[in-house]
Amino acid sequence: MSAQTRLNEALPESQQRLSHQATTLATHGYIVGEVIGQGTYAVVKKAYWTKFKRTVAIKIMSKTTAGETFLQKCLPRELDAIRNLRHENIIHYYEVIETTMRVYISMRYAEHGTLLSLIRRQGHLPEVRARRYYRQLLAALEYIHTAGYAHRDIKLENMVLDGNDRLKLIDFGFACRARDADAPVLSKTFCGSHAYASPELLRFKPYDPVHADIWASGVVLYSLLYGRLPFSNEKQVNLLLQKINRGVIFPSNITVSREVQCLLKQLFLPVEKRIAWPELGRSLWFFIELEEESPGQVEWPQPAPDGVAEPSAAKRSKVDNKA
Ligand SMILES: Nc1ncnc2c1ncn2[C@@H]1O[C@H](COP(=O)(O)OP(=O)(O)OP(=O)(O)O)[C@@H](O)[C@H]1O
Ligand SMILES: [Mg+2]
Repeated sequence: MSAQTRLNEALPESQQRLSHQATTLATHGYIVGEVIGQGTYAVVKKAYWTKFKRTVAIKIMSKTTAGETFLQKCLPRELDAIRNLRHENIIHYYEVIETTMRVYISMRYAEHGTLLSLIRRQGHLPEVRARRYYRQLLAALEYIHTAGYAHRDIKLENMVLDGNDRLKLIDFGFACRARDADAPVLSKTFCGSHAYASPELLRFKPYDPVHADIWASGVVLYSLLYGRLPFSNEKQVNLLLQKINRGVIFPSNITVSREVQCLLKQLFLPVEKRIAWPELGRSLWFFIELEEESPGQVEWPQPAPDGVAEPSAAKRSKVDNKA
């Protein structure tokens, strides 16, 4: 028995877990740092990759605490998606390390954090900035959909900004194949957050996940512009559907262009009438002139001191919903 093994066995269980993680990652050249995010099945930590002398983010998923659905469905789909999808607005994945206990996904670290944390700091964004991020989200989505996949968990906490203020889509935990020889593969499982769910998804009937992603992108756009969710975060599906049926309301205290309101109305339509590719990318809003931002209008996060865990975006309450 090695000294390291004897040392591990003398530690309490939680510390043994951390020690196993650190040892596994150290063997692959990573020095593990603080927690930067936490979700249902994963913890994400910052790390330094000595081999390439760069800071990375590592998503660590435990195979022992996750249920069968995660192991049989979510995990294989996430790995399939990240191995096959490469785009400038999708986080760059470096490698996947799999042990009997855990899966580690190493990826580029996005210095400026999630869009959710940005909205929490800023309240809402100037229209010109919201348009820039939304264009980047659409570029990623169009690529994913054309490649035959759907993301199925589009939301503010699944988009991060790198040091160059470029949007990167993350978290392919619910991704799926959405097209088979160009024919839609309908989804039957409820995925993602209620606040971002399209009405056809909320009715629990088989739905086309590509159109559901497009609806969710509308929720993102609205939240960027107004700093609140368009409908609500209501868990009771019937109440949420009633709100959706009443139609989207635009708060009068924030002025935005008629063109973006027109696009939002097209995004929040029943699936048969909802705007889709390629019309979505050609919306008039993308071509109108908008007032530029004044410099220094955005506050970037301060790096957390070493060893101090940043609270998880997923664990914090949702974007204010004053509607
Ligand atoms: N590359 C990254 N750079 C910076 N922060 C990241 C990065 N990847 C993830 N995070 C942070 O970690 C959080 C959780 O990551 P992610 O969304 O991949 O996992 P998750 O929500 O736990 O996934 P799931 O619950 O679907 O398994 C993100 O919301 C974000 O705050
Ligand atoms: Mg997530």
